[in-house]
Amino acid sequence: MVYSLARILLASLCLLGPTTAMAAEPQDAARQASKADYRRPDAVPFPADDPYTDAKAALGEALFFDPILSGSGTRSCATCHNPGLSWGDGLPLAIGENQLPLTLRSPTILNIAWVRILGWDGKYRDLESVAFGPLLAPGNMNANEAQLLSRLAAIPGYVRQFAAAFPTEGVTRRAIEQALATYQRTILSAPAPFDRWIEGDEAAIDETAKRGFDLFTTKAGCSECHRGWSFTEGSFYDIGAADETDIGRGRIFTNSPKLMHAFKMPTLRDAARRAPYLHDGSIATLAEMIELYDRGGVDRPSRSELIKPLGLTEPEKAALLAFLTTLTSDPVVVPTPVLPR
Ligand code: HEC
Ligand code: HEC
Repeated sequence: MVYSLARILLASLCLLGPTTAMAAEPQDAARQASKADYRRPDAVPFPADDPYTDAKAALGEALFFDPILSGSGTRSCATCHNPGLSWGDGLPLAIGENQLPLTLRSPTILNIAWVRILGWDGKYRDLESVAFGPLLAPGNMNANEAQLLSRLAAIPGYVRQFAAAFPTEGVTRRAIEQALATYQRTILSAPAPFDRWIEGDEAAIDETAKRGFDLFTTKAGCSECHRGWSFTEGSFYDIGAADETDIGRGRIFTNSPKLMHAFKMPTLRDAARRAPYLHDGSIATLAEMIELYDRGGVDRPSRSELIKPLGLTEPEKAALLAFLTTLTSDPVVVPTPVLPR
């Protein structure tokens, strides 16, 4: 019944087709071409030297949520990368073990499997090499490597899980790094209204949001940088944010003037649930983010040439905001795993 109704509807659309299709064509063709860039991929890329296994992912999940990894036993990776807050912490600056703020905001780790170089300034060459950064930093989790390994080796549940995931290795730093990375690569943004639209459901987002998408990919120039299904290629730019003290990637590439004040481009997935924004949490709302881009931020030699005053009208700003909001999925409940003891 439904099927035949749909066929009738389709047939009558085809009859009406030529005139309506011609009228809508130029803009529609550009929109359709842009939409193709944002389709969700079919599979997660796992590196050849750290391939996926269920046992590694399960061990990584336990480690990610286990506060025993921190020096005081109170703070886990999930304290700052909280699934209920789209894998960030909702704070302008992360708070470490000593209850003092770090100098950076906790980034989301959604879709991290697609990000090659990690950290706001790109100090980490791959996901495996991140874990012992926060773990050993005195201001963050304040762990001690030898003590951490012996703590885990003293827990029978962990000994079993390490043996299952790394039969020839046991409880080692490398095993912890690989297990955490494998688990994190499984953390994906859930489908959002935008995805349903990309897949062909025209009713999934409203006309204002569709105009916002057109602006995003044309006049506002956002897609010059925020491209691909996760809305980032993981590259580094100075977008003219107010922070003058942290030079970001300029610390690592001291001879590249364009990398002064450059920070990693975050995903825009779940953006509406991840305020405040930027590496220093200095922007409180998405509307303020749009104002920053509309002004073109701080004009300095390192600012990307893709950033300039945009001259957006108020309705255009509202449309961009409506579009950004469609990238946020319905809330997903991630159960905390039973911790091995
Ligand atoms: C106190 C809060 C806090 C804790 C705990 C924490 N992180 Fe982070 N995480 C951060 C901050 C802040 C950054 C940005 C650091 C930088 O750019 O140098 C970050 C960056 C990252 C990144 C890079 C993301 C990107 O887009 O480049 C990954 C991956 C990550 N953390 C994983 C972990 C794992 C795994 C653990 C547990 C072993 C952990 N974090 C514990 C706050 C925290
Ligand atoms: C030149 C490349 C570039 C362009 C063009 C660009 N962005 Fe960004 N975007 C970035 C970078 C880099 C950051 C992170 C900057 C930082 O933390 O200092 C960012 C951050 C953001 C954030 C905050 C995300 C978060 O989690 O903190 C939002 C939202 C955003 N951009 C939306 C947009 C919109 C909307 C446009 C178009 C008006 C746009 N961007 C244009 C590179 C760009």
